[in-house]
Amino acid sequence: MPTTSSLLPVLFFLASLGPLLSTVQAASFSVVQDFSGSTFFDKWDFFGNYDNLTGGAVVWPDKADTLAQGLAFINSAGNAVIKVDNTTTVLYPNKRNSTRITTQQAFGVGSIFVADIVHMPYGCSVWPAFWTKGINWPQDGEIDILEGVNLDTQNQMALHTRAGCSHPAPASGAQTGTMGPTDCSQDAGCTVIDTRNNSFGQNFDQNGGGIYAAQFDTSGIFIWFFPRNQIPQSLLSATSTSSIDSLTDWGTPAASYPSSSSCDIPTYFDAQSLVIDIDLCGDFAGASNIYLPQCASQGPQKLCYPDNVIGPGSQYDNAYFEFKYVRVYGNGNSTVIGGTSTTGSAATSSGTASSHSSSGVRNIESLWLVSWMWAVAAVMGMASILY
Ligand SMILES: *[C@@H]1O[C@H](CO)[C@@H](O)[C@H](O)[C@H]1NC(C)=O
Ligand SMILES: *[C@@H]1O[C@H](CO)[C@@H](O)[C@H](O)[C@H]1NC(C)=O
Ligand SMILES: *[C@@H]1O[C@H](CO)[C@@H](O)[C@H](O)[C@H]1NC(C)=O
Ligand SMILES: *[C@@H]1O[C@H](CO)[C@@H](O)[C@H](O)[C@H]1NC(C)=O
Ligand SMILES: *[C@@H]1O[C@H](CO)[C@@H](O)[C@H](O)[C@H]1NC(C)=O
Repeated sequence: MPTTSSLLPVLFFLASLGPLLSTVQAASFSVVQDFSGSTFFDKWDFFGNYDNLTGGAVVWPDKADTLAQGLAFINSAGNAVIKVDNTTTVLYPNKRNSTRITTQQAFGVGSIFVADIVHMPYGCSVWPAFWTKGINWPQDGEIDILEGVNLDTQNQMALHTRAGCSHPAPASGAQTGTMGPTDCSQDAGCTVIDTRNNSFGQNFDQNGGGIYAAQFDTSGIFIWFFPRNQIPQSLLSATSTSSIDSLTDWGTPAASYPSSSSCDIPTYFDAQSLVIDIDLCGDFAGASNIYLPQCASQGPQKLCYPDNVIGPGSQYDNAYFEFKYVRVYGNGNSTVIGGTSTTGSAATSSGTASSHSSSGVRNIESLWLVSWMWAVAAVMGMASILY
């Protein structure tokens, strides 16, 4: 029979595990950054250039100009509006002004991104997106939470990564959406299409919008859409400061990208900044095989740019986002890089910052590649506008 003294080391060992065990069990998510109300736009950078990335026919002005032109504002309901210019008659070969904003902070693995959206942009030529990107894009990953073009009514989610990450069909019952291409490093990314026809565009708006949420976790990336009348209690009762105890009432995600030997998520995704933008035409909305099936009757030229962007702005009366809030939760382990957290519950981590600088060699190598890719994209973009 063991004596009490021989058990003491065991008891000390168990006691030392206590804090660790309780951290693991408390699957609670606290608000690390809330964007809402009059301060919604405080911690976002505005693009300040024409679309030099995807060939779209837009200028995304800097912050002062975007606000002065009334393309981003807080409306009388206290919601943030982000829109395309619908008051200017644009003459060939000019572009139309729109809005693109990116959070100054980047949020590490363990974060959850939630957006309550009352209205989203739609219409021929319109290409809106709510998405995230790594600090070193594209090699630190991209998560497309809400994206589509023209008259789409079903949301297309995607991951974009450097080579090596793929998305095999998850186990039956693990996601409600429909599988698209599976190689996350190819142009389209590895996509999943929502099966619900109110997950995007005009139907989304007529249904009162809803909540999009994405969990960026070591165990994988999971994306949910809750139509306005199907928002779970945990989100209905959430405030700008309250924690969410568990995701159990969120149900099956629309898209599920579990970490596996096909793609270890933390290997391919570093801390992510959120991006909201509205593009026009460009590589996606303007591609003839995508544009023509929905929008061929839009104008005489059967081309995205001249039949939409050119001319009066009334074409874009519905080309706006209206957000009740965008909110980022952390799991107690997730880091926030850059900016300052309003709630201070997740301190900026010097540990993560130094892990970024230790990957500096890789980053410099890839900068050359990225610059080259951008140059090609810019040339393709100019070509697509001229034609
Ligand atoms: C579009 O934005 C640019 C850059 O801010 C500005 O110079 C231009 O006047 C704007 N165009 C319109 C029609 O407001
Ligand atoms: C949307 O889908 C529902 C069933 O899920 C169907 O009843 C309805 O007709 C569809 N609406 C449109 C506009 O396609
Ligand atoms: C522009 O669109 C908004 C809705 O986004 C609408 O309220 C406004 O009347 C439109 N402006 C013009 C000049 O049509
Ligand atoms: C905690 O964060 C670190 C650094 O981002 C990450 O490597 C690790 O996998 C995370 N652990 C959990 C349980 O989220
Ligand atoms: C595109 O514009 C952004 C914003 O001005 C700038 O930071 C970036 O360097 C530009 N990229 C290219 C390839 O010109």
